Amino acid sequence: MERNKKCWCGSGKKYKYCHLTIEEKIESHRRKGEIVPSRQMLKTEEQIKKIKESAALNNAVLDEISSKIAVGMNTGEIDRIVYDFTTKRGGIPATLNYEGFPKSVCTSINNEVCHGIPDDSVILQEGDIINVDVSTILNGYFSDASRMFMIGNASERAKKLVRVTEECVKLGLEAAKPWGHLGDIAHAINTHARKNGYSVVEEIGGHGVGLEFHEEPFVSYVTEKGSEMLLVPGMMFTIEPMINEGSPEFYTDEENGWTIYTIDGGLSAQIEYMVLVKEDGIEVISK
Ligand code: MF3
Ligand code: CO
Repeated sequence: MERNKKCWCGSGKKYKYCHLTIEEKIESHRRKGEIVPSRQMLKTEEQIKKIKESAALNNAVLDEISSKIAVGMNTGEIDRIVYDFTTKRGGIPATLNYEGFPKSVCTSINNEVCHGIPDDSVILQEGDIINVDVSTILNGYFSDASRMFMIGNASERAKKLVRVTEECVKLGLEAAKPWGHLGDIAHAINTHARKNGYSVVEEIGGHGVGLEFHEEPFVSYVTEKGSEMLLVPGMMFTIEPMINEGSPEFYTDEENGWTIYTIDGGLSAQIEYMVLVKEDGIEVISK
């Protein structure tokens, strides 16, 4: 792109005063053989503003669930709270009718790894651990994050898994640096999980997000430090490892086609942060 032309990003600035420097830097990494993001993966200021509004609503939905979730509640109620809260504020739950997913939120309990479908017949029991995964579309922009809840008194075993999963995400976040690599995050997460005797699910991972629900890149949590895509300011993606007590293997529910379970029946936990890479560090925009 010509230096004196207006930048492709729509900022109105000349290219040389806008994306030129960053793209030269990306190009120098690409020449070294690194995987680099495409232009579409770099969100513009305007897009970031809109995506943050979506993320603010997503956070509010998660706060609402956090304040209401309790023993005896069924997951169908969680679904209705998410739907009502979101739509009243002008949003749309991103999972609803997404590739045929029938509900407004994923609720995954105990040995369910992810994509649990809310249902009035599923009642939260004392000691359950549950992941509530909320994703929101607001004015066409997408956000996505999930929290883990312990219902009443969880077992020591469950508490430890949830604590370590939280630590994994925090360590992954600390390892994320502009001009570092996605593999740095994966390495931090996988190392901490394994140190605690756990495993990390390989085939399902995180994703770019913002203009679409699921964008490139695919974010693995088992790859090596320094490997995978370069982290460039403007990128947005999720850090959402699934940590299993036992084997990382899983199977899919044959009847509903969605819910993923651990193959050995062990517990699985997941926490999802949605992050933005900035020049001076990483910002969590939904959690
Ligand atoms: N929030 C989940 C994710 O992180 C949504 C999976 S798609 C669904 O990607 F249809 F199962 F909801
Ligand atoms: Co996600």
